[in-house]
Amino acid sequence: MKTQQYLGEVLASDHNEVYQLHREYLESVEKGGPSQQIFLTLAWSVGRHAMMEEAFIHPLLHRAIGSQGVQLAEIDGNEHAGIKSMLLHMSSMVSTEGPGSPEFEKALETTMGHLRRHNDSEESADLPLLDSHLGAEGSAQAAGLFEQIKSTMSMER
Ligand SMILES: [Fe+2]
Ligand SMILES: [Fe+2]
Repeated sequence: MKTQQYLGEVLASDHNEVYQLHREYLESVEKGGPSQQIFLTLAWSVGRHAMMEEAFIHPLLHRAIGSQGVQLAEIDGNEHAGIKSMLLHMSSMVSTEGPGSPEFEKALETTMGHLRRHNDSEESADLPLLDSHLGAEGSAQAAGLFEQIKSTMSMER
């Protein structure tokens, strides 16, 4: 039987999926793989993660933590908006400069840097705080629900 996971762990593994896609992307640029498709999957995965946090984690932050949670959600949402607009800008470059071009690679490096700092601060501060407020059972329940919602938002149908 699968051991119960904390919400923080499930979200961190969702972050890791994006890092894995980034590694695959870099390898495909080097070796001439389907870079454009991998980039679009990466952008979709970041967008899905941000949307799920906004729809599902923000209300939990509000309910479980109160005013500090409201503040954390607001900061999270603002940072998502920045990262999403960077990815949107890159999506518009896909058919012009495109993967492998210096402009595109520089933009992706900057975007991934922002994303990493954002994710690191979630993993080291926000999520441990949320987990501690939810308690082991509440966190495991929320983690299960997050996985369930994510599975309905898969790219492969
Ligand atoms: Fe976030
Ligand atoms: Fe996150």
